[in-house]
Amino acid sequence: MIRLAILLSGRGSNFQAIHDAIAAGRLDATIVCVISNVPEAPGLARARELGLSSHSIDQRAYSTRPAHEEEVLRVLAEAQPDFICLAGYMRLLTPAFVAAYPSRILNIHPSLLPAFPGVNAQAQAVEYGAKVSGCTVHFVDQNLDAGPILVQRTVEVRDDDTAESLAARILEQEHIAYVDVLRKLSRGDYRIEGRRVLFGLTVNGARGENGLP
Ligand code: GAR
Repeated sequence: MIRLAILLSGRGSNFQAIHDAIAAGRLDATIVCVISNVPEAPGLARARELGLSSHSIDQRAYSTRPAHEEEVLRVLAEAQPDFICLAGYMRLLTPAFVAAYPSRILNIHPSLLPAFPGVNAQAQAVEYGAKVSGCTVHFVDQNLDAGPILVQRTVEVRDDDTAESLAARILEQEHIAYVDVLRKLSRGDYRIEGRRVLFGLTVNGARGENGLP
């Protein structure tokens, strides 16, 4: 059973997908807190409805980024998560924050990184003329959208795609990807070698599909 903190700024569909997977017994985890930097985020309202420990930490109420993060870190310290899941958390973390949870902060991004980092990744992919895009779940490091990759899922970019239609199909894959990664992490059967995250079943050739020799 892994303990998850969720940080979100908006709709919260990735958070909901993680919650649904736990509720359905597909993911051995518990959500120990949901934090939003945006008080009116629909995802935060949903977390409250679900009776989860929910925290509105309005970034506008703090004069500096470190001051805001101090409050987020205080809530996290109380909740004691194993992993912190950024789920549409549209705020950069300082190096000090990242250093407080090394290889324990995850982010989901709607492109195949390192392509199209930053905002509006789906629009970037359409405008660039990419034929394939997708999503990436990665560990967060000091650089934007740049940490070691845990999983990627691809989505074809169609000729008639708009940023919105592509985003909708990528989002379906995001929900699968985030749950998939967390299921793998919950087994604890992984290691990080440089930039590469290696999962037990894929590293050890002696093991079969179900982890048995
Ligand atoms: C998702 O598409 C996620 O990949 C993106 O924000 C959306 C949040 O949706 N994140 C980023 O662009 C981070 N750079 P959600 O609130 O419904 O989970």
